[in-house]
Parts: sequence; structure tokens; C-alpha cells
Amino acid sequence: MEKREFDTRYGDYRQAVEEYLNGLFADKPHWADLYESMRYSLLAGGKRIRPVLTLEFARLSGMDWKKVVPVACALELVHTYSLIHDDLPCMDDDDLRRGKPTNHKVFGETMAVLAGDALQPEAFRLILTAPGIAPAERAACALILAQAAGADGMVAGQILDTLHAPKTEEELKEVDHLKTGAMIAGACKLGVAAAGGSPELLAAAEEYGYQLGLAFQIRDDMLDVIGNVDEFGKPIGSDKEEGKVTYVDLFGIDGCGKKVLDCTEAAKAAVAPFDGGGFLRTLAASLAERNK
Ligand code: IPE
Ligand code: IPE
Ligand code: MG
Ligand code: MG
Ligand code: MG
Repeated sequence: MEKREFDTRYGDYRQAVEEYLNGLFADKPHWADLYESMRYSLLAGGKRIRPVLTLEFARLSGMDWKKVVPVACALELVHTYSLIHDDLPCMDDDDLRRGKPTNHKVFGETMAVLAGDALQPEAFRLILTAPGIAPAERAACALILAQAAGADGMVAGQILDTLHAPKTEEELKEVDHLKTGAMIAGACKLGVAAAGGSPELLAAAEEYGYQLGLAFQIRDDMLDVIGNVDEFGKPIGSDKEEGKVTYVDLFGIDGCGKKVLDCTEAAKAAVAPFDGGGFLRTLAASLAERNK
């Protein structure tokens, strides 16, 4: 796909996501300090890769993607909670996220924990009340999000990453598969499920998401070493400071670069029969070279 066409479509998806998120938690109850903390992180300028994936897979399933925006944003709420908690002193202890002070630095740890807590059920509320989605599809989406984020998904990966000191390639691959792959694959599957798409496309979405997720996390670990703080929007050297072993320690920057390309190719191959205009291939290729 031509870069201009890709950028336009990504921009359209992203704008719809920003507008929808901006409408959330905008009331002023007397606990609006909670809303303020949730909105601070939600609207801090994430790349929105996961909701973009959901919307593209819905489109590929033949659905009007605009109807799927609430479902796509639901996963972004859960992703945002995972980042707020990931940055806490008891986790990665980071002070910078999306180029701004982390949630707990601005609102304190109690509020950061509770803002993250609130974002999780609110995500399921968005799915279960999505106006353009039929009841059976809403239920399928809720199950996909629960599995992606839950005790055998992202949180399992966070446990292994922070408490089990993974060191071997096999161990690191499992961590990345769970902490990052599960949510990215979940985002892809959500789009197919919301649209009532085919089992073949659902399987392709899952494989694409896991391969893209692994490439994405290896690139993230590279940028934690060679990134530029202003562009990356996160501290450089955080993994080393936390005593983490990553792919960079095992394979070096060049070795990681090659692994990112291999996973990217595997991701593209998984969706080749379905990816008509090539948006998913272009997205995978651009993420392999990302600096933020
Ligand atoms: C950060 O995800 C967490 C990882 C899995 C590395 P993103 O890099 O997608 O973060 P945002 O949403 O754009 O801030
Ligand atoms: C994050 O992995 C995965 C999550 C589930 C939040 P990292 O800890 O490497 O993510 P960043 O670098 O803080 O975004
Ligand atoms: Mg972490
Ligand atoms: Mg972190
Ligand atoms: Mg990281």
C-alpha cells in the first residue's frame, strides 16, 4: 500500500478513536478527580496501534468499521490501565510515559491504582453497550478481551516479567507472547469477532497479532537501549535499571533487528490471503522501524 493511502486510513481510524475516548469520563461527579486521572492517561497521545488493528480487521470482515469504534476503544482502556500499573514503583518504577510524567507521579499511587482498576470494568461496559454490535458479537468480544488481559494473558506475562526473572530465549519469548502478544492478538481478533467474521480470518488475525506482538516487544526492548527519550516518550535504560534481561542482552542490537524482521515477515505471511490493499503489511513493516 502506498504510504499516503496508509497514512490517510491510519489517520481516519485514529481520529475516530481520539474523538470517542475524548467523550468518556467527561462528567463532573464529586469524584471527578478519578475521571481526571483516567483521562490524563487515556488522552496522553498513545499511538493507538491496538484499536487501529481492531478497526482494520473489522473492515476486512466486511463491517462498517465506525460501528466497531467502542469495541476498539475498550481494549485501549485495558491497555492504558496496564501501562498505568506497569509504571508504578512496585512494577517498573518509571516516571515518564507518552512523553509526560506517569500517572502516579501526577496523581499519587492510590489514584493511579484506582484509575487503572476503574478502566478495566469500564472497558467491558463499552463492549456490552456498543450500539452497532449485536448481542452475540458483544459477548464474543467480551470473552476475547477477558482472555487477552487476564490471568492466562497479559497479567501472566507481567507476573513472569516482574517476579520470575526470565533469562533464556525460551523464557523471554513466553513473557513477550503473554505480556504484549496477547493484547495485540486480542485487538486483531476483536475486529473479526465484532463483525461476525469467518473462522479462517479469526485464526489469521491471531497469528498476525502474536507475530506482530513479538516484533513489537523486541523493538521496544531495543528502543529502551538505543532510543531517544524525546521521541520514545519513555525513559531510556529502564530495563537495565530494573535488572531485567531482555532480547538485547542475549542477541545484541543487530541480532534483535534481525528477529524483528523475521517476526514481521511471519506476521505479513499470516494475513497475505486476506490483506487486500496491504494495510496490515504496511503497518507491520512500519512498526519494525519505529522509534516511538
Ligand atoms: C507500550 O505499548 C507497551 C508495550 C507493549 C511495549 P505502546 O508502545 O503501544 O504504547 P502507546 O499506547 O503507544 O503509548
Ligand atoms: C509492557 O512491557 C507490557 C505491558 C503489559 C504494559 P514494558 O514494561 O516493556 O512496557 P513499557 O516499556 O513500560 O511501555
Ligand atoms: Mg513492564
Ligand atoms: Mg514498563
Ligand atoms: Mg519496555
